[in-house]
Amino acid sequence: MALSSLSFFRALLFLSLATSAFSTRPYKEGLTPYFYDYACPQALPAIKRVVEAAVQQERRMGASLLRLHFHDCFVNGCDGSILLDPTPTIDSEKLAFPNNNSARGFEVIDQIKAEVDKACGCSLVSCADIVAVAARDSVVALGGPSWEVQLGRRDSTTASRTTANSDIPAPNMDLPALISTFQKQGLDTRDLVALSGAHTIGFAQCRVFRNRTYNDANIATDFARSLQSLCPRTGEDGNLAGLDPSPAQFDALYFHNLLTQKGLLHSDQALYSGGSTDELVKTYSDDVETFWNDFAKSMVRMGNIKPLIGNQGQIRLNCRKVN
Ligand code: HEM
Repeated sequence: MALSSLSFFRALLFLSLATSAFSTRPYKEGLTPYFYDYACPQALPAIKRVVEAAVQQERRMGASLLRLHFHDCFVNGCDGSILLDPTPTIDSEKLAFPNNNSARGFEVIDQIKAEVDKACGCSLVSCADIVAVAARDSVVALGGPSWEVQLGRRDSTTASRTTANSDIPAPNMDLPALISTFQKQGLDTRDLVALSGAHTIGFAQCRVFRNRTYNDANIATDFARSLQSLCPRTGEDGNLAGLDPSPAQFDALYFHNLLTQKGLLHSDQALYSGGSTDELVKTYSDDVETFWNDFAKSMVRMGNIKPLIGNQGQIRLNCRKVN
């Protein structure tokens, strides 16, 4: 009798461990890097494969995917809200000023979602987590640091163009405004400088650096002149300039350039213009290890902004639409 009840409890224990291990139930305690380890160990390798192929096809895509995660997280948390297409009830963030004709990579996210769902046999990986992992894999693919991505975010059922317009920092901001947009997200000045280092990869359009090119005082003359030939006073709004001289390489040249007043955006140069962040810019400019370490830590901090967990939100079947 005693023996049989013992084996009964053993069986019960096994069953409960097994169901919790293989469960895809929302994790109540917050995010964990191991979220998909039991439910779908194929998920992360599938994301990496698609990102690597996309970056190999077009190096810039790595930059675009990294930026998507940033623009997702700064608008009501990292909840995949940026991916929702406009509908009569979705005020799509894609149409907000910082994203319209600018945010890119949505087709790659769709492709990842399809591959991940195929690999897992069902839809259990959130779009918000896909964006977070794709950002990390992109940085790695462009020669930058790696980090363990916290997972278990769920997807929003709403979007906010208004919040995207107010909470994503603008390229004409000075240091105090930049600090306060980051502070609003619970990120400090060190996070601001480290994360701005993302501008070591990717491109910007003439329309966002024109004003700096013609009107800023803290810009190197030869640099301004060469930008002016790419970006006339009117027209050619979409012409692209690298955010640093090696836009496909995750190096420290972005910071090095700020020292000689060759930041492309007004907001880039604001980090080295006689203010409180000058010293950190100098440090990062000649110590890529410290930059990479801080960048990785700050990416995790950014990725932790207000995730939906537990029974909040949903796991979208299609990243562009609410289920
Ligand atoms: C600090 C405030 C920031 C401002 C004002 C800002 C602004 C901008 C602007 C205006 C562009 C060019 C967009 C275009 O011309 O279409 C851009 C590009 C980019 N941003 Fe930022 N950004 C900031 C911080 C960040 C952060 C924190 C990240 C990521 C962690 C990031 C990642 C990127 C990347 C990778 C690109 C290039 C995208 C591409 O080539 O498709 N930025 N940013």
